[in-house]
Amino acid sequence: MKRTSLKSIQNKKNKKKITCLTAYTASISKIIDKHVDVILVGDSLGTTIYGMKNTQSVTLDMMMRHGRAVFNSSKKAYTIVDMPFKSYKNKKEALINSKKLLSFTKCQSVKLETDESNIDIVKHLVTNGIKVVSHIGVTPQKYKNFKTIRSVGKTTFEKKRIFNLAMNLEKVGSSLIVLECISEKLAKKISLSLKIPTIGIGASADCDGQVLVINDILETTYLLNKPKFIKSYTKLHIIIENAVTKFCEEVVKNKFPKKKHTYL
Ligand code: KIV
Repeated sequence: MKRTSLKSIQNKKNKKKITCLTAYTASISKIIDKHVDVILVGDSLGTTIYGMKNTQSVTLDMMMRHGRAVFNSSKKAYTIVDMPFKSYKNKKEALINSKKLLSFTKCQSVKLETDESNIDIVKHLVTNGIKVVSHIGVTPQKYKNFKTIRSVGKTTFEKKRIFNLAMNLEKVGSSLIVLECISEKLAKKISLSLKIPTIGIGASADCDGQVLVINDILETTYLLNKPKFIKSYTKLHIIIENAVTKFCEEVVKNKFPKKKHTYL
């Protein structure tokens, strides 16, 4: 099977919506590969896999290991891997770390959380042959406490700032832009104005594609105050609990293992 190219993802703009989900492990990567256009090895693995409160303690080493597992277990999807917090503080570190991340994982693009302060870093990476996905709007690496996250892009000032940021990121060579938790009107304006595709998370149906965190769509954990943009398509935590309860019951009652599970 041929690996999806960046060009073919970009060519979907105005034709077909782009589908993207996160994956952090070989098993999930293998399952979702045939279905989604893009797999994102997100630094959300800090919270979903490692149980951290935020993504600020995610390391380059973690992204390298999970990125490699995801890439090696997929054949078709376009693969993006997140640059973790503080791994792209300046041009020099960003280039060294993104090269290290891409050469070890074989993923095709890196994703950086971007604002006005690091447009020059995106430009530097692109100039040096790195394919960069920019992530704007709500950028989770800025938050210690995710409960304080609010959607952005409602005031005139914010609208102008985020719109100009998106335009400038396209100008310096970003391949795609992730829009997180921004108002519908602004997401529409940005998506209509850019030549490159936007992939939204909590940024309305007007984006060129959608991304969600795999653990959220599977509901691996019950979330009391689930953000509005999340849709869960199953309740995996209940399915897991049922299976585990049954296993424990059968072991205690000596119903498992049976002869068919035994080497005679
Ligand atoms: O880390 C991540 O999973 C992400 C998505 C939520 C866009 O950046």
